[in-house]
Amino acid sequence: MFHIERDIRGFRVAVEGEEGTQRFGKALGSALQAGDIIGLVGDLGAGKTTLTRSIALGANVPEGTPVNSPTFTIMNLYRGQDLQLCHLDFYRLESAEELEGLGLEDLMGTDTAFIVEWWERFDSALSDDILRIDIEHTGETSRRFVCRSTGEGSLELLEELAAALEVQIG
Ligand SMILES: Nc1ncnc2c1ncn2[C@@H]1O[C@H](COP(=O)(O)OP(=O)(O)OP(=O)(O)O)[C@@H](O)[C@H]1O
Ligand SMILES: [Mg+2]
Repeated sequence: MFHIERDIRGFRVAVEGEEGTQRFGKALGSALQAGDIIGLVGDLGAGKTTLTRSIALGANVPEGTPVNSPTFTIMNLYRGQDLQLCHLDFYRLESAEELEGLGLEDLMGTDTAFIVEWWERFDSALSDDILRIDIEHTGETSRRFVCRSTGEGSLELLEELAAALEVQIG
């Protein structure tokens, strides 16, 4: 018997200031396709929601649409041009069963992409094929985004993002 480890591929992007995060997020938002799942990992105040706001802009969610951590409601939906965004937050979730009843399965086959704050708390609740982004707080307004794909679908998104940012996948 073989134990085959999934190929995990990725790259890191360092940004300065919220403008840097916005540029990165917009590139990611414009690369998103239906069914994509982004898992955001980072401490309180790392910038998960700030990044999500920029991803929404990149997916053409109208500017001014409130994008906040759905800490208590668990899920927010935003309508973009070709895509709906489902913004989830696992921070206060106590079990994956609490996700039942949100209708996530019904959203899976539609024109919806998913962004999950505190994804690592229930890392197998949605899928094992996700684009994982760890946000490292490298300074007051500087951040490092460590982007990794964990499957075929998310590798496609990772490649799109790399092309948009003109970086090499290591
Ligand atoms: N380059 C940057 N990228 C993102 N946020 C930044 C940056 N520089 C400063 N910030 C500030 O860091 C804070 C990030 O807060 P945000 O709510 O996005 O974090 P979060 O990871 O979603 O936290 P929580 O776990 O509480 O939901 C904001 O106050 C934002 O203005
Ligand atoms: Mg947040």
